[in-house]
Amino acid sequence: MSETRLRVAVTRRIFPELIDALRARYDVRDNQDDLPLSADELARRLGDADGALVTGGDRIDAPLLAACPRLKVVSNIAVGFNNIDLTACTEHGVAATNTPDVLNEATADHAWALLLAAARRLGEAERWLRAGRWKRWEFEALMGVELFGKTLGIVGLGRIGRAIARRAAGFSMRVLYHNRTRLAPELEGGAEYRTLDALLAEADHVIVVVPYSAATHHLIGARELALMKPTAVLVNIARGGVVDDAALIAALRAGRLFAAGLDVFENEPALDPGFLALENAVLSPHIASSTRETRAAMAQLAIRNLEDVLAGRRPPALLNPEVWERRRA
Ligand code: DGY
Repeated sequence: MSETRLRVAVTRRIFPELIDALRARYDVRDNQDDLPLSADELARRLGDADGALVTGGDRIDAPLLAACPRLKVVSNIAVGFNNIDLTACTEHGVAATNTPDVLNEATADHAWALLLAAARRLGEAERWLRAGRWKRWEFEALMGVELFGKTLGIVGLGRIGRAIARRAAGFSMRVLYHNRTRLAPELEGGAEYRTLDALLAEADHVIVVVPYSAATHHLIGARELALMKPTAVLVNIARGGVVDDAALIAALRAGRLFAAGLDVFENEPALDPGFLALENAVLSPHIASSTRETRAAMAQLAIRNLEDVLAGRRPPALLNPEVWERRRA
């Protein structure tokens, strides 16, 4: 029986109960060790699979796809898909899918957690307290910068950016945004459009939430950081590489920027050790969408995407619709 069942590869450890449910319908090979897979190991595991549940750390490119002749769907359990070469997927007739929307609120919460923590020096204050340095109350202890009534700049007013902007109302903040193209007024939700340079100069604090691509590589570099206010906090929950980490470290070290809150890094998890020595950087290990509810919703959507393709149905979050048109033709 099992030879006739479709084969599904799962590249990392994902809620075992959801994967076990898949076993009733497919021949599932998962990765209980949960170690990141090398390109060779990925090719070995996906080589005879009909479908794959993958994560943002799995590079899905032309050489891999050439080694996976049966593959019909790569279902990314992430909204970001810079790990997937969509052109190569389309050329190989492989549907690529992602998990939009279900993580908007959790990711927006985390952006705010980083902004608040960096503005109020929470990481530094906790390290100071735990080190036994709190000997007496001081009027000017660990002074932060304010958010209430200030101007928030959002670089990337998409689905997550809009969830971040909605929260700004609770802080009576004015919201500026920059996108490559100005949005229709009904999508702006009251946010004011600016060029990137104007936003960086005018905003009191800036949150970056654009997808990573060649066009957004080092979108925020030394020149852009120099435009920001010295009292500003920069938050990056987008992808490593959108901000030039070396330039950011130099700016934070020199006090040209008040603080940064960062969930993503170039070359993560091997982030630049310069960050570790900075008191004014609040760092989290790429967990912006990591709440139980949201990760479960992401896994469920990814499974739905995978199963729909394997059953010949168009999946809800298809990234390369050309594949579908071609199949139908
Ligand atoms: C996403 O969904 O893109 C998150 O960054 C997790 O990889």
